[in-house]
Amino acid sequence: MKVLVVGANGQIGKQVVEKIQKEGKHTAKAVVRKEEQLSQFQDLGAETALVDLEGSIDDIAEAAKGTDAVIFAAGSGGHTGADKTILIDLDGAIKTVEAAKQAGVKRFLMVSAIGVHRRENWSSEIQHYSAAKHYADVWLENSGLDYTIVRPGGLTNDEGTGKVVAGKDLDRGYIPREDVANTLVAALDEESVINKGFDLVSGERSAVEEALKEA
Ligand SMILES: NC(=O)c1ccc[n+]([C@@H]2O[C@H](COP(=O)([O-])OP(=O)(O)OC[C@H]3O[C@@H](n4cnc5c(N)ncnc54)[C@H](OP(=O)(O)O)[C@@H]3O)[C@@H](O)[C@H]2O)c1
Repeated sequence: MKVLVVGANGQIGKQVVEKIQKEGKHTAKAVVRKEEQLSQFQDLGAETALVDLEGSIDDIAEAAKGTDAVIFAAGSGGHTGADKTILIDLDGAIKTVEAAKQAGVKRFLMVSAIGVHRRENWSSEIQHYSAAKHYADVWLENSGLDYTIVRPGGLTNDEGTGKVVAGKDLDRGYIPREDVANTLVAALDEESVINKGFDLVSGERSAVEEALKEA
C-alpha cells in the first residue's frame, strides 16, 4: 500500500514514515506544510507533498490521489490556541476525510486521544480539544471509509517497548510515541481493526500485533 502520512513532520508522523520506509512492506507519502521539511523524507525514499491543512479539500485530495491509505497524525499542538484546535484537529481532520473520499482512498487511520469518545471523560481544561477530536472521529465513522481510530494515552518520548494494551475503554495511561507509530503501521495489515476505535496505552504483555487482535 502507498500510505499518505498527514502530519508527517510531527513526532509520531516522522516515526510512522521512517518505519514504513524501513520495513519495506508499504511505501509512505509524507505530507508537510513547509518546503524545508521535505528533504528528510526524500532522503528516506518517501514521496512527499506540500499541503497546508488550512487550505482546501482539493489540495489534500490532490496529494491523496494514487494512495491506498491515509494516516492522520497532525495536530495543532499545545502551544496554539483553541482557534487552531478547531482549524486543524477538527476541520483539518474532516477535510482530510473528505479528501480521501474524493481521491478514492478507502482506508483511513486517525490518531485521536484516549477517552474522547465519552463526554464524561473530557477534562475541563481541554474540553474544546476533546470535543474537536471526538467530532472528527464521529465524522470519520460516518464517512463510509474503512476506518481505524487509535486513541492513545498521554504521549511520551520514551523508547518504544513494543508492548501495548488496546481496548474500548481503558483507564488513563501513557504511551511512547514510538509505540503509537508501531501500532499505526501494524494496523495497516490488521483487517480486524477496520471500522473500530480503541484506546491505546503501554502494556506489559501484549505485543502490538496481538493487542490489535484484542482491540
Ligand atoms: N500530547 C499528548 O499527550 C497526546 C495524547 C493523545 C493524542 N495526541 C494526539 O497525537 C497527535 C500527534 O501528536 P504528536 O506529538 O506527533 O504531534 P506534533 O509533534 O505536534 O505533530 C503535529 C504535526 O501536525 C502538523 N500540522 C499542524 N498544523 C498543520 C497545518 N496547518 N498543515 C499541515 N500540517 C500541520 C505540524 O506541522 P509542523 O511540524 O510544521 O508544525 C506537526 O508536524 C495529535 O493529533 C495529538 O492531538 C496527543
